[in-house]
This record gives sequence, C-alpha cells and structure tokens, in this order.
Amino acid sequence: MTGFGSFGLSRGPYPQTRMRRLRRFEWSRRLVAQSQLSVADLIWPIFVHPDHGRQPIDSLPGVDRLGTDLVVDAAKRARDLGIPAIAVFPATPAELKTEMAEEATNPDNLVCQTVRKIKQAVGDDVGIICDVALDPYSIHGHDGIVRDGDVVNDETVEILGRQAVVQADAGCDIIAPSDMMDGRIGMIRQALETAQHTNVQIMSYAAKYASAFYGPFRDAVGSKGNLGGASKSTYQQTPSQSDEALHEVALDLAEGADSVMVKPGMPYLDIVQRVKETFGVPTFAYQVSGEYAMLSAAGQKGWLDRQSVAMESLLGFKRAGADGILTYFAPEAAQWLAES
Ligand code: PBG
Repeated sequence: MTGFGSFGLSRGPYPQTRMRRLRRFEWSRRLVAQSQLSVADLIWPIFVHPDHGRQPIDSLPGVDRLGTDLVVDAAKRARDLGIPAIAVFPATPAELKTEMAEEATNPDNLVCQTVRKIKQAVGDDVGIICDVALDPYSIHGHDGIVRDGDVVNDETVEILGRQAVVQADAGCDIIAPSDMMDGRIGMIRQALETAQHTNVQIMSYAAKYASAFYGPFRDAVGSKGNLGGASKSTYQQTPSQSDEALHEVALDLAEGADSVMVKPGMPYLDIVQRVKETFGVPTFAYQVSGEYAMLSAAGQKGWLDRQSVAMESLLGFKRAGADGILTYFAPEAAQWLAES
C-alpha cells in the first residue's frame, strides 16, 4: 500500500482518483450536493410580550420580543417568506406568575391571544406551534409543579393536558411539549381527543437535554430570575446520554407524538442522526438560543461571518437527517435563500 496507486491499476506518478475534480466548478458541486436547505425546513420561534412595540433581548442580538401590535406583521412576514411555521413563546408579566402557574391554563393568556390574532390574519397559511410547559408562568421557573423541592410528575402532566387544550382551542396547530415529564404525550393526546382536537398535531420535545445553552431563552421569557441557579437535571436529559434519547423517542411515539424534536441542536447532531435512522419519523432539531447567541455575537465582533456560519450550521442539521430546524435565524435564512 504505497501511494495513490494502491486503489487502482495505475502506478503512475499521479493520483488515480482526483477528489478535487468534482469540486472544481460551482455547477458540479451543486450537481453532487447531497443535502440542501430550503425555506420549507425552517421554523421561526418568536417571543411575545403583552405591551406594544419591540423589546430588545440583550443576550439575543437581533431578536426582539414583539408586542401585540407586531405579531401579525411577523406572521405575515413568515407567510410571505414561505416559512411554514412559527413557534410562539410568551414573556409573562411577573405579577401573573404563581407557584401553581395558573396562567398557563388561562384561555385568555398571552399565547392564546397571540394565536387567535395570528390565525385571524393569516389563517392556515402559516402553522402555529405552542410550547407546553409551565416555566413561563411559574414563580420558580420550573417546567412543572414543585412540592418539597421536587418537580412532581403526574400532577404536572394533568395541568399540561389542560394547557394544551386551551392552546388548541385558541387555534394552535401543533402542540409542542417541552417539559420532559413522563407520560405527558399520552395525557396530552387524550386531552386533545376528548376536546375534539383530533387534528391538532403533537411535536414532542422528545430528546431534550439539560443544557446551559438555554440561557438567553430564559432571559427572553423572563424565567431566569425565577429559576435562580436551579437546574432542570431531574427531568431534562443528562448530556452524556445517547441511548436514552432513543428510549424517550420510542415512548413519545407510542404515546401519540406525530413528530419529535432533539434539543439543543449543534452539540447533539449525533442524536438527530440516530433518531432519524432508528425511527424514520419527522425529526426536528432546535438550534437553541445559546447557539444563536454564540454565532450572532461572533458575527457582531467580526470574528465570524454571520450569514456564512448561520447557513453552514443549518445545512449541518439537514446533513444529520433533520426534517426541519427551529432557529432564530429563520427569517434571515429565508431571505438569504430567496436571494441565492
Ligand atoms: C421551556 C423551553 C425552553 C426552551 C424551549 N422551551 C427552556 C428551558 O427548558 O429551560 C429553550 C429554547 C432556547 O434556548 O432557544 N421549557
């Protein structure tokens, strides 16, 4: 086995196979491309607040919380760009947060109001995804009910079922439980069926890891202060675990999930690939707030080229097998795709 000739008959001074031949021209690189990013792969997470106007989020440069006067514009922008769906996250006023997170099941809470408004304006041209979890509504910032320092499972799951129903009543198309309680998908499916929402989808945050990359999101919805330094490690997955993600996905599918999600994204592309290969179901990845913040901050400093790293990272999700990506770059990426 010496030199390039070892793969063929040629023992000449030149490589028998020249990998660079296919790379020489743009047309050729395009011709052999295996993965492609399209606007149909993008889901745009937006933050809403109950007042008017834009509120910048320091740790998410370029992303603002949108007031009630701006949400319809955002939905129309998504529609006009061809983005299939948006995910709505509320910044709940501190005075509405409680120990039991009652606001989560208020049929007139900020999320429900927003969903109604958006549906009225854009109808079924844009899908609406709503998170199911209690953290935007609880004074402790946890995704479930806390008793004696423990996030209790079954009591929480019952509330999540009701939260899902008020969101579906408001017009939400896809319920996305992000809480990581056991048995929530089954309970939510049951609650939706009972409430006649047979066509409302469930996109389960099936493999969601206890990650430090959620920091800027917690700033955006104002739950960081509530949570203090507490961790979510008793319900979100431990970052070292890989097989466990497959177990979670299997359970969520058995309980009725229509699609599954892996979260965070870039540090967990191995999980995206395993989930897609193992189950072959619609598999989404969430390029979370901390991932966006890193790329965005380095772009602002001139250390990285914003557009290039954003598009390269999104293509990476596709190469790993993701069917779509929740990303704060969505509107920009859609624009860049349209221009290219
Ligand atoms: C709430 C929720 C979180 C995210 C989505 N839904 C935060 C958390 O679990 O603490 C994070 C998204 C992001 O970081 O962009 N359960």
